Amino acid sequence: MANKGKLLILPGDGIGPEVMREVRRVIDWMAKKRGITFEVEEALVGGASIDAYGKPVTDETMDIALAADAVLLGAVGGPKWDDLPFEVKPERGLLRLRKDLGLFANLRPAMCFDALVDASTLKPEIVRGLDIMIVRELTGGVYFGTPRGIETLPDGSRRGVNTQVYTTEEIRRVARVAFDIATKRNNKVTSSEKANVMESGILWREEVTFVHDKEFPGVELSHMYADNCAMQLVRNPKQFDVIVTDNLFGDLLSDAAAMLTGSLGMLPSASLGAADANGKRKAMYEPVHGSAPDIAGKDLANPIATLLSFAMALRYSFDLGAEADLLEKAVENVLGGGLRTGDIMQPGMAKVSTGVMGESIVRALDKLAA
Ligand code: IPM
Ligand code: MG
Repeated sequence: MANKGKLLILPGDGIGPEVMREVRRVIDWMAKKRGITFEVEEALVGGASIDAYGKPVTDETMDIALAADAVLLGAVGGPKWDDLPFEVKPERGLLRLRKDLGLFANLRPAMCFDALVDASTLKPEIVRGLDIMIVRELTGGVYFGTPRGIETLPDGSRRGVNTQVYTTEEIRRVARVAFDIATKRNNKVTSSEKANVMESGILWREEVTFVHDKEFPGVELSHMYADNCAMQLVRNPKQFDVIVTDNLFGDLLSDAAAMLTGSLGMLPSASLGAADANGKRKAMYEPVHGSAPDIAGKDLANPIATLLSFAMALRYSFDLGAEADLLEKAVENVLGGGLRTGDIMQPGMAKVSTGVMGESIVRALDKLAA
């Protein structure tokens, strides 16, 4: 057996544990059928960690995450923890992981599987063959900028403050990731900001252009205001190849892009840090969807986004491109065979549970590997 490295699994809240169970099936399959094993550890994050330890992520869990080759996260949050003070909300656990692991580049691919062309709320011809990559800056901008907070003014009224802030290097390093990815795809980058109203947007545009001219002159670069980009994503999404944008705009644009693919339940993501001397990057993989408390515990959730996130981990962190291809192909075959979870259900298809979807994908892996 070849041990491929350390994998930390953080199922989190809501549907997180359910969808992660299906990843476990695939991990077991890899060990049994391909002789590929990982050193797997599991820990709590988000509300589950709050319930057990009083904080959304503990220092011990952070240490394991820092030592792991890859972290796979389910989802965090839920109504149970909504009224907690801001600093100890479940989401703070996720944000600490991103920040302390230095995961500045968040890759959110939006691909429309042929079988799901009709599941999108957009017309089939708009989404058929769609394959775009959103590169979202993940450790800066308004998510982390200071000053921030809510203060009470002398007259008793209150003021809420957040700061949008970016430095040269923060912009350049994420731009490099986007350009580099574009060279392996269709060689086109659209950079998105609001340079018409924000100085940080002007700097963003200048620094992206700088990296382009100096290091990637062969890549086609265009700039688009973020509001226009949102509109173009639903008007004509196939005009895009790679979109690079800041933390907040990336959050919004990637949710919009997700719906082009049929469901938020389909979209994986990879968050990568800087490469070390050996070219190795810290990395966390997570579905773009949230914890979906309304359907949690009912075996209704779509596990595909998390399985595809695991495929990204295989590809980017463990150098197992062939296995990643296999898993993606298995998902495609199961969808092609007509199985659907509730979120992507269409007339004439077979509606299945989270567990049956996972099992079927493992069976498809068996067939592909036979
Ligand atoms: C995402 C989520 C998170 C974010 C939340 C849960 C903090 O919406 O990963 O897109 O805003 O980044
Ligand atoms: Mg989001």
